[in-house]
Amino acid sequence: MEITSFLRFSFLLLLVVLLFGRSWLPSNKGDLDCSLNKPWCTSKNRIQAKSGLVLDTFIDPKPIDHFTEIPHHPLDPLTLQEINKVKTILSSYERFISSFPAIHSVSLDEPEKSIVLSWKKGDPLPQRKAFVIAFLNGQSNLLTLDLESGQVINHDISQGSGYPALSFDDMAVATKAPLTNPEFIEIISGRGVKLSDLTCAPLAIGWYGVSEEGRRLVKVSCFSGEGTANFYMRPIEGLVVIVDVDTRKVVRISHTGRGIPIPPATDTDYRYSAQNKPEEMMKPLNPISIEQPKGPSFSIEEGHMVKWANWEFHLKPDPRAGVIISRAMVHDSETGQTRSVMYKGFSSELFVPYMDPADAWYFKTYMDAGEYGMGVTAMPLVPLNDCPRHAYYMDGIFAATDGKPYVQSDMMCVFERYAGDIGWRHSETPISGMEIREARPKVTLVARMAASVGNYDYIIDWEFQTDGLIRVKVGLSGMLMVKGTPLQNMNQVGNKAERDAMSGILVSENAIGVVHDHFVTFHLDMDIDGADNSFVKVNLEKKETLPGESPRKSYLKVKREVAQTEKEAQVKFKLYEPAEFHVVNHGKKSRLGNPAGYKVVPGGTAASLLDHHDPPQSRASFTNNQIWVTPYNKSEQWAGGLLVWQSKGEDTLGVWSERDRPIDDKDIVLWYTLGFHHIPCQEDFPIMPTVSSSFELKPVNFFEKNPILRASPNVEKDLPFCRATATSA
Ligand SMILES: *[C@@H]1O[C@H](CO)[C@@H](O)[C@H](O)[C@H]1NC(C)=O
Repeated sequence: MEITSFLRFSFLLLLVVLLFGRSWLPSNKGDLDCSLNKPWCTSKNRIQAKSGLVLDTFIDPKPIDHFTEIPHHPLDPLTLQEINKVKTILSSYERFISSFPAIHSVSLDEPEKSIVLSWKKGDPLPQRKAFVIAFLNGQSNLLTLDLESGQVINHDISQGSGYPALSFDDMAVATKAPLTNPEFIEIISGRGVKLSDLTCAPLAIGWYGVSEEGRRLVKVSCFSGEGTANFYMRPIEGLVVIVDVDTRKVVRISHTGRGIPIPPATDTDYRYSAQNKPEEMMKPLNPISIEQPKGPSFSIEEGHMVKWANWEFHLKPDPRAGVIISRAMVHDSETGQTRSVMYKGFSSELFVPYMDPADAWYFKTYMDAGEYGMGVTAMPLVPLNDCPRHAYYMDGIFAATDGKPYVQSDMMCVFERYAGDIGWRHSETPISGMEIREARPKVTLVARMAASVGNYDYIIDWEFQTDGLIRVKVGLSGMLMVKGTPLQNMNQVGNKAERDAMSGILVSENAIGVVHDHFVTFHLDMDIDGADNSFVKVNLEKKETLPGESPRKSYLKVKREVAQTEKEAQVKFKLYEPAEFHVVNHGKKSRLGNPAGYKVVPGGTAASLLDHHDPPQSRASFTNNQIWVTPYNKSEQWAGGLLVWQSKGEDTLGVWSERDRPIDDKDIVLWYTLGFHHIPCQEDFPIMPTVSSSFELKPVNFFEKNPILRASPNVEKDLPFCRATATSA
């Protein structure tokens, strides 16, 4: 039998099969309808509300037919037809006549901000343009296409060091190439792994010197899938195959792992169906779901405009960022105005350095958005588990390597969240003589996506609250990247020096969970009541009292500092120099004369401790500070650069900000990095519980008073409750 017929491709290749197995036909949204039209609260088990409330009146928004879908908003993503048109234009483009390039990215070239801001519903759409990254003969081609005239209106060849994200075809090439190499086959059999159990992953190589420049290289590392779906727990340690994806040749094999056993498969499979020790299973909880007898309160108009409570925003999938929130506006019921908060927000880049200098590990310093893509790795969300009942699922329409569109189905969901939390409360104790019990439930709206970038899953939530707050939350889940080791027990580690030499924690027999970091950098183009805003550091400083002035010796005082230029807005958090970080509109004052603003409330404040001259850190210099502010520039969207694969870091936020441009009373973009240090532990094996951190964008002097005052409480009569039918009584 041929080797390839044995082969189980890498995870990413599997993904290719999934995508192309389904081809580019729109997903069948029938299932979704069906589940929504069959509420568990049927007449059999429903206890009718006394008011005779009619239940089940909620009608699911019509499923979208991607074949006939047309754009309605200037920021709407390219439709299936538009991506087809891009392919047609490129096919007849003179410079691609002799050979069609590999398509690495097709996305909407968003109209100029001023055009979007002046556009009103009902106006004709501004010119629809596509931005394409295509690779041909060793060159990254950056093209802008006018979809109406069918012309290529701009065509640049990138002169920078980086390459576009790997295409699925590249990944297939990378993971197949080792199989034609006799040395590799011999190593695999020497390590006791059958080719039929082999799973290989195409890893980004970072940038570590001139010897790696000028060609697209991938480092392939392999696992044994024998006896488990969780091949990540079974690395063939110390084996790295360097592949040139353009020549399709193995450049070099590094094998430093001779003698390191493959960790056992025992108890690593995570599928529910594979749990075959009933005595170890937890007692199942009673069924749980959120009740919405009248359906959810949000609506999604014309495919992408989300409206809920006092919020409206444009929501779209993106192959690289995953989710893009645009034109976030809040309705101020006091003034009757719908006011701008944020023009655009998205996760711009990720940086995931592993902390192990060994040959098979040092290069593991990923930039997941630019090297893989958060949207293209976002698989369909699992109803009732990833998103609750009544969630609305949104598809992405992306382009494959041959330029054909495909549907990334159900990659995002929108739902109302009620987790039993309190939005606001107060009661009076008998001392006041008043019997007051006031409480408001905390109901929020969430737009969610989960990217599976190889072993790691990133859950990204944009959560909107009725008090004007936006919470941006990142959850990390999935599986660890473990390192094979001869160690089976810590009692085999002789002394402190040997323990210190380990790059992580023994999480199972023969498996070390290597210490690593995650940084997620968000692009937040805040437009508080208009584009021209300022960044204000509101510092808290200790003041000492004068002798005899007060029984107090010291107190804290607020000192405001308006950042004039970019460098003044480079912020590193310091516990003993506390500050708030406001984006304000000095031209828009409240009744009391305070400038309207929003502040970024930090969370997930781990900072990168790597040397700034360490190659991965200079590529990821966007993590050198936790906050940056830059003047708006349409070309500065991707914190790690437009082309990231093997880039040296010359096109990053760290470089842009060094220009030190003026930012006071300008259209500014705030960048915030959520950071996580991860020291693994046994509970991270064989799967990781979700670890989350979030930061908030919170109104400061934006509203005249707390808008939650006008939110209504929950009352019993509106919530008929359901009881399980006889079987489980
Ligand atoms: C906009 O960004 C690009 C890319 O960083 C840069 O070349 C250009 O000079 C910037 N423009 C301004 C006005 O800063």
